[in-house]
Amino acid sequence: MVAGFPVSGSLEGLRLRDGTPVVARALVPGDRAALAEAYRMLSPEARYNRFWTHGGDMIGERMLDRVLRQDPARHITWVVLDPAREFPGVGAASWWRSGADQTEAEFSSVVLDGDQRRGVGTMLLAILWQLARRAGIRWLVGYSLGGNRRAADWMRDTGAEGEWDGYKLVFRWDLEAPQPANDSRAAVELAARLAEFKVLGP
Ligand SMILES: CC(C)(COP(=O)(O)OP(=O)(O)OC[C@H]1O[C@@H](n2cnc3c(N)ncnc32)[C@H](O)[C@@H]1OP(=O)(O)O)[C@@H](O)C(=O)NCCC(=O)NCCS
Repeated sequence: MVAGFPVSGSLEGLRLRDGTPVVARALVPGDRAALAEAYRMLSPEARYNRFWTHGGDMIGERMLDRVLRQDPARHITWVVLDPAREFPGVGAASWWRSGADQTEAEFSSVVLDGDQRRGVGTMLLAILWQLARRAGIRWLVGYSLGGNRRAADWMRDTGAEGEWDGYKLVFRWDLEAPQPANDSRAAVELAARLAEFKVLGP
């Protein structure tokens, strides 16, 4: 296993929809090098869709600081790991609570290109959803560039309401809304994951 992604203090015994055993846990400061490596492994397209930059495959130190600093009331980042792999990182998601509106937090996520559409994004959304509720947050807000159809479909399928602000799509999930929000596979999977991770909630 690559140093920096130790599998301890985590949600273990999880399975992706294809049965692959995975674990999920909060990032720790020792993940710094592994996080930079995961950033390098992303396709330019996935990197641009998540970070909105064409700045190459080196993540900046300030962005690393920003992602790694955990504070359960203001910002969290969780990762999904496949411990059987040499590089176990599969995907990560974060939320940052809004300074102006304490009931709201900005959500973002990224899954390695070869692991997209395996349910990892939805698993991370459910974990962060429950931890947001625990922190007293009512709304998660996700942004998608106009051309990022995949993310827009996923946010809409998982129940977020979207609107175009003239520059980007702004999606809002109501964390109190009944689930599943519709009959898409992603919505049904999200509802099941929310039940699975209920223990993380309030
Ligand atoms: C958006 C993202 C996080 C979703 O993660 P994921 O692990 O692929 O998502 P899941 O497997 O849980 O859910 C997949 C759902 O997303 C949508 N989706 C994914 N790929 C799609 C595609 N090629 N066409 C249409 N819909 C797609 C569908 O709703 C799909 O559900 P389905 O497979 O049941 O049809 C991932 O695609 C990603 O990392 N993209 C690059 C970064 C990014 O755009 N981040 C979002 C902005 S912060």
